[in-house]
Amino acid sequence: MVEAIRVEGLEKKYVTKDRIGLFKSRKKVIRALKGVFFKVERGEILSLLGPNGAGKTTTIKILATILIPDSGTAYINGYDILRERDKVRTQIGVTFSVERGFYPRLTGFENLVYFGMLQHLSRSEAKRRAREMLEIVDLSRDAHRLFDEYSLGMKAKLALARAMLHDPPILMLDEPTIGLDPVAAKNIRNLLLTLRERGKTILLTTHNMSEADTLSDHIAMINGGEIVAYGTPEELKARLNKLQIISITLQSKGRDPRVFLMDIGSIIRVSENSGVSVVKIGCKKGEEMDVLYMALRKLRESGFNLLRVEVESPTLEDVFVEVARGEFKKTS
Ligand SMILES: Nc1ncnc2c1ncn2[C@@H]1O[C@H](COP(=O)(O)OP(=O)(O)O)[C@@H](O)[C@H]1O
Ligand SMILES: [Mg+2]
Repeated sequence: MVEAIRVEGLEKKYVTKDRIGLFKSRKKVIRALKGVFFKVERGEILSLLGPNGAGKTTTIKILATILIPDSGTAYINGYDILRERDKVRTQIGVTFSVERGFYPRLTGFENLVYFGMLQHLSRSEAKRRAREMLEIVDLSRDAHRLFDEYSLGMKAKLALARAMLHDPPILMLDEPTIGLDPVAAKNIRNLLLTLRERGKTILLTTHNMSEADTLSDHIAMINGGEIVAYGTPEELKARLNKLQIISITLQSKGRDPRVFLMDIGSIIRVSENSGVSVVKIGCKKGEEMDVLYMALRKLRESGFNLLRVEVESPTLEDVFVEVARGEFKKTS
């Protein structure tokens, strides 16, 4: 049996303009996707996890046949997104994080019936499906209130209901919990687990690591338009747990501390603000004291005035930088 989703080398550039003066601009090319590969098995939840700008929405738009890639392709239940677009659309239900397109002066129920009929359901069939979907997303009680009066959490549920009107086997959800309060976000997550139990395949995007952790069968981490790690949450965590971050704040006075730390750990990033720099060094858990000692000695010998030292657990951003550099793979 073919995979629910098979993504083969998607590349996508955006051409925009950079303003360089009041009346001047320069053409700018952004490589949003640089060859994205991954697959989603039937009946599983896969999270595409990555920071802002990683290429998550671009990937979903291409898979949903809203955007055409520059090269590469993907197969949805075996159908090619480039050559079998209509077939692909019967297989998928899609939501985007900023929910537009609902009619505020219609009720949730009326909105769904309207969209059902747009998808060529008869009025009675659309009503039946709308009721069924409202039940599934637990909105039956609020079915006859105006969309305008819905909370964000209710809007998110309605968006899910709309995505499922034509009963697609695959759902593609772009940041389904973004902007929701913790309770509403949890409701949506529980709902996604229920949908998986009912046999749906779900591809979702998130920048929230714990969300990806609690929901997913597999996680594909994306950064800078590339998949940088793939595995079950357990596999990835086992790798992430081996990383520690040493953070050193110092007076740099125009000198770049990296020059003096070349042989030590892996420098994740240096940020500088009016003569004060923060250096972040990644190292394996258990080695942080050795790395710290060496780094401090080098910096002192080089005449830097040290202000503050901390050993931190990696943030998602640190982990991404490490994973993207490939350093981290070597240590796991
Ligand atoms: N319509 C667009 N025009 C120009 N650049 C874009 C456009 N959409 C996205 N980008 C750029 O492409 C990259 C990936 O964006 P996106 O897919 O939205 O990432 P994510 O959803 O992970 O935040 C970013 O650098 C973003 O600024
Ligand atoms: Mg996005």
